[in-house]
Amino acid sequence: MATRDDSLFLRALSGETLAKPPIWLMRQAGRFLPEYREVRARAGGFLDLCYNPDFAAEVTLQPIRRFGFDAAILFSDILVIPHALGQKLWFATGEGPRLEPVADAKRLGEIHEEIDQDVLAPVYETVRRVKAALPAQTGFIGFCGAPWTVATYMVAGRGTPDQGPAKEFFARDPALFGEMIDRLVIGSAAYLNAQIEAGVDVVQIFDSWAGSLGESDFERWCIAPTRRIVDAVRARHPGVKIIGFPRGAGRLIPAYIAGTGVDAVGLETEIDRSFVREQIQSLVPVQGHLDPHVLRAGGPELEREVEAIRAAFGAGPFVFNLGHGILPDTPIAHVERLVAAVRA
Ligand code: CP3
Repeated sequence: MATRDDSLFLRALSGETLAKPPIWLMRQAGRFLPEYREVRARAGGFLDLCYNPDFAAEVTLQPIRRFGFDAAILFSDILVIPHALGQKLWFATGEGPRLEPVADAKRLGEIHEEIDQDVLAPVYETVRRVKAALPAQTGFIGFCGAPWTVATYMVAGRGTPDQGPAKEFFARDPALFGEMIDRLVIGSAAYLNAQIEAGVDVVQIFDSWAGSLGESDFERWCIAPTRRIVDAVRARHPGVKIIGFPRGAGRLIPAYIAGTGVDAVGLETEIDRSFVREQIQSLVPVQGHLDPHVLRAGGPELEREVEAIRAAFGAGPFVFNLGHGILPDTPIAHVERLVAAVRA
């Protein structure tokens, strides 16, 4: 019978170089799957899906059943942390997340100091159910958003092209912005620790907007808060691997690794491959970085890119993934071809 030692994903994250890299895809539980859309329609709203353990466990397992990926990622969202801090959150159909913006002392005073773990209890129940159902060799990933990325949504009340509102907030009042970041650090660490206690093997910290920060702001608002989360998780769970994904950080990634202490990093599509080999993969295992558009397009270019990525990173510890989340209209046949090519 297979055991956790057979997990290629955990072996790669522990620094082993494997002949065939393990593979999973960011946003693998999502709209490109008809079986996800079916459950999503039954659940009603997106948050009803996140907070219903039956539905959330089902959609977490769907991509594992269909593609046999080497890791499952918990179905939830990074914005459940502001929600558990008492910020109003809703998902407008076809428009993405909306929150009531928090951009001054009065509004910050209206949200909680600490997360309400009762709001998140269904997420931990989802973890327990998935863990019980998952094959032993399949890794199980929990996650949170990094404080900077989550703060960009909290301040603007929505996704923004340039993260301008959050940048202007920290430029105007760094101490007050720092208070918001402190709450996110403490809440996110408690959230990750509870996911680990419920059964995830690995956690990933998504900093989708890390690349929009200049060098000194990157140190202050990306590296330093992430380090505090890493320290708080290590203090309770020293054996659990932590993957950082500072998307768009490029040349600042070696400083991110040294400053945060993460065990592995996710790579955006745009990063320079020889830089990765020389300055990043020599430090920690890497995960990434196929362009989601190349996957959507399919054809011979997909096969060529898979080969190029395996040739670039296959000589060191490596987990195959995308450089960002899978696009909703990606054909299932292209994902099947990808998995076959990575395992060929
Ligand atoms: O499969 C998985 O990866 C697990 C679940 C997961 C979701 N969101 C589900 C989701 C994960 C890991 C996330 C992370 C997340 N959420 C990030 C960081 C990664 C990234 O993509 O940059 C961010 C910034 C968010 C916030 C968020 N949630 C946005 C901006 C949106 C709308 C855009 C979109 O893709 O729809 C969401 C909604 C969301 N989160 C969906 C899913 C499956 C789509 C909701 C739907 O079914 O309508």
